[in-house]
Amino acid sequence: MAVNIPKTSLAPELGDMKAEDFRRLGHELIDWIADYFEKIDDLPVLAAIEPGDLKAKLPTAPPALGEAMEKIITDLDRLIVPALTHWSHPSFFAYFATSTSAPGIFGELLSAAFDNKAMLWRTSPASTELEEVVLDWLRQMMGLDPGMHGIIYDTASVSTLHAIAAAREGVEQRIREDGMSGRPDLPLLRVYVSEQSHSSVEKAVITLGLGQRGMRKIPTDSEFRMDPKALAEAINEDKRNGYLPFCIVATVGTTSTSSIDPVHEIVPIGEEHAMWLHVDAAYAGSAAIVPEFRHILDGCERADSIVTNPHKWLFTPFDLSVLYCRHMDLLKRAFSLVPEYLRTPEQEKVRSGSDYGIQLGRRFRALKLWMVMRYFGHEGLAARIREHCRLAQLFASWIDESSDWELMAPVPLALVCFRAKPKSRDDLDALNEAIMHGVNASGRALLSHTRLNDKLTLRLSIGNIRTGEQHVRNVWELLNEQLQLLR
Ligand SMILES: Cc1ncc(COP(=O)(O)O)c(C=O)c1O
Repeated sequence: MAVNIPKTSLAPELGDMKAEDFRRLGHELIDWIADYFEKIDDLPVLAAIEPGDLKAKLPTAPPALGEAMEKIITDLDRLIVPALTHWSHPSFFAYFATSTSAPGIFGELLSAAFDNKAMLWRTSPASTELEEVVLDWLRQMMGLDPGMHGIIYDTASVSTLHAIAAAREGVEQRIREDGMSGRPDLPLLRVYVSEQSHSSVEKAVITLGLGQRGMRKIPTDSEFRMDPKALAEAINEDKRNGYLPFCIVATVGTTSTSSIDPVHEIVPIGEEHAMWLHVDAAYAGSAAIVPEFRHILDGCERADSIVTNPHKWLFTPFDLSVLYCRHMDLLKRAFSLVPEYLRTPEQEKVRSGSDYGIQLGRRFRALKLWMVMRYFGHEGLAARIREHCRLAQLFASWIDESSDWELMAPVPLALVCFRAKPKSRDDLDALNEAIMHGVNASGRALLSHTRLNDKLTLRLSIGNIRTGEQHVRNVWELLNEQLQLLR
């Protein structure tokens, strides 16, 4: 991917890079990225370096004088690329496999050029209004209720934090004004999640000053879904003890197994106790744009908020998370604070992003989502997600048919949880860990793991736009090679 740049492009004495250099280098860099994608199959998925290797090769002091761009790009090839774990690699199957896409990269590039801080409508009308329109398109594609309004944050962790903050504002305990500490009048506020919920919910609870005591984990059934009966009992018990249950977080697509909590059964429990229901669909929300998977959001029409991450499975570069919320007024009440220097004549007539979160300046993220949605269209996006689910079912069928392997959880979407179980070995945790490390060390694929029913479990997640059947066949071969070596 070496870049052949003819002239030296040093920074002028003042001002930005000369226009002609920007144009030439920009073309070269797009070529560089095109080459990167063309050759990515040959790169090791997991960075083949040891901790500290990159730092040891970098100067400890900043450059006093500017350096030629050619030299910087040479170092990109020489130093940075070898230290990358390639999330864009089609054989990246770890965590939740995600990927950027060409239109998303263009959107990201342009938003860096515009460099808008979309805190007020007037500081970026385009960003403010495009965000509203694009999120309404996505809402329609997901079949969500028109009463849900969207707002973009960076990550699902932050979206969920804002949802719980709005829920907390809704308990009418003057927490915004009086805080939570030193208040004997305030009961213990509690949030309910399943044992399989993402750690971001607990982090949000900690950050919001509710404390880990302010969260109760509800057991799951044999398919890793929240048990609604146990939820109802926990809430009733907590109420009897004087606590204030105020929020339930259900998950549609849990991180370990992509299990789907029974939202339609959880809804009436929340309604009975006037609690806020937030749905964490960070991963699986995108699948709802595929008509045959729309049912995963059944019940969400009565939720108060729902988070989904286009940066996970909608081919949009990191970061872009969307919170849909039915009570934007409460979100605004929790966060809006407008000092004199931010007042504008139109403020009563328009939406200003900074009213709905802790950030003031906001990136122009809607642009990349707009480009992705227009370039692929609803059907194009749905076709890609559908294909990922087909590939996951195919891989699951190989596991099912082999006596050396077993499935560890149902496969509702494009994540397969499995492990080796040859008769020759009884230390299956150690065996599966060794298989995973063997595959990952080969550089030809990347897997991650979880623990289910106290058993080490391998995870294969398919979500990259470049992943095809051949990549899935290759990782299956790799896994079996490792098993033969270790059995
Ligand atoms: C179900 C779920 N919720 C939340 C998150 C956190 O996502 P983010 O990195 O956008 O904060 C993840 C990440 O994988 C997830 O799987």
